[in-house]
Amino acid sequence: MTRRVLVLNGPNLGRLGSREPDVYGRLDHAEITRAIGSWAAELGLEVDVRQTDSEAELVHWLHEAADAGCDVVLNPAAFTHYAYAVRDAAAQVGTAGGRLIEVHLTNPATRERFRHLSVVAGVATGTIAGFGSHSYRLALSALADAAAHPAARGLDPKESSR
Ligand code: DQA
Repeated sequence: MTRRVLVLNGPNLGRLGSREPDVYGRLDHAEITRAIGSWAAELGLEVDVRQTDSEAELVHWLHEAADAGCDVVLNPAAFTHYAYAVRDAAAQVGTAGGRLIEVHLTNPATRERFRHLSVVAGVATGTIAGFGSHSYRLALSALADAAAHPAARGLDPKESSR
């Protein structure tokens, strides 16, 4: 069975390409979506890539992932730094048995101080940041790897209580 992954992108990521290209690169959201689609196909994953500027919509998509028990690659964008409702919804993906990888195009730890805090990181399976659009490829690869090596779950201290 092909594993389904929701790739969820938060506010302003629909503006990629024209938004601060020196920081975020020149690929627009449609181009990144196409790249994600081909990486997923190579890894044997089925992806659904979405972007929203709305916190409520993002929360509802995370509920959908939790209810479906699917894995999530989440770039919460600016919500990363303050949106407790996104954090609480992201936590439900893990409770439901899915994995959630937090991704960022840039490495927020090297940027302004307000970006150093992620309120989502504490409920994520892991975080990949700083590799541009390849952060998504690395996240998908981690999910495919985890699906292929379920025995490795026991090595993950966060899994031991599940
Ligand atoms: C971002 C980093 C966030 O700090 C920022 O608000 C974004 C994009 C990234 O992918 O590097 O919108 O999540």
